[in-house]
Amino acid sequence: MAQTLPNIIILLGPPGSGKGTQAKLLSQKLGIPHISVGDLLRDHVARGTELGKQIKSTLDAGKLASDEMIVDTLFDRLAQPDCKAGYLLDGFPRRVSQAEILKKRLKASVHPLVVNIYVPDELIIKRASGRLTCKNCGHIQNSSLQPPKVPGKCDVCGGELYTRTDDQPEVVKTRLKVYYEQTAPVAEYYRAKGLLNQVDGTQPPEVVLNSILALVK
Ligand code: AP5
Ligand code: MG
Repeated sequence: MAQTLPNIIILLGPPGSGKGTQAKLLSQKLGIPHISVGDLLRDHVARGTELGKQIKSTLDAGKLASDEMIVDTLFDRLAQPDCKAGYLLDGFPRRVSQAEILKKRLKASVHPLVVNIYVPDELIIKRASGRLTCKNCGHIQNSSLQPPKVPGKCDVCGGELYTRTDDQPEVVKTRLKVYYEQTAPVAEYYRAKGLLNQVDGTQPPEVVLNSILALVK
């Protein structure tokens, strides 16, 4: 399903499927911002805001926050001028109720490009348990799949790499369970509307990127 700018691209897929990795690459290619609900929430935790204090234990447990807790934060971000020409949504919608909220907020003439990145469970555990994220620029690497050239340092900016608190193996299992129970139905919601595009996320990042770009242009 080809689509022209202005663009709203929704990236769906299980934890560790590469939504954040692809969103960063797509953001550079298409010149539209990457809006990650997980990143917005982690930023609140880091800044110690009221929302951050309320949400920390939910994030650490790998469970989903309530719709009420996140929609204002998300839609405040989407109201910023840099989102006018379009944006990449990573981590929203994650419940069918959120897909309905988004539908109501978008103009009827706007049809987002929905991309579901498919990756089998075994690979997800491997990817998530080795993930390293840069504290400075947000670049994502992996200790075994994309090891840093200098241990502990980001390949892009040299910033400090860290492991997310929800990447412990037990928490990754909870996140996968939550995904199948609550987020997989979102893909079915879009499939039923004829809006779902599937991309093989097991390929190298640049191959996955080209598969997604082929849907955009
Ligand atoms: P969020 O931050 O969105 O986490 P997630 O969905 O679990 O997704 P991840 O960030 O773990 O994976 P990803 O798909 O971005 O993969 P990545 O590119 O990093 O959400 C965190 C939490 O926030 C949730 O648990 C929930 O509590 C809350 N939340 C968020 N949204 C919410 C919502 N809408 N409602 C309620 N609560 C919400 O890649 C993973 C690894 O694989 C990396 O190491 C990477 O280097 C590697 N990799 C990626 N692609 C490839 C490739 N093609 N080949 C080889 N390695 C690759
Ligand atoms: Mg992510």
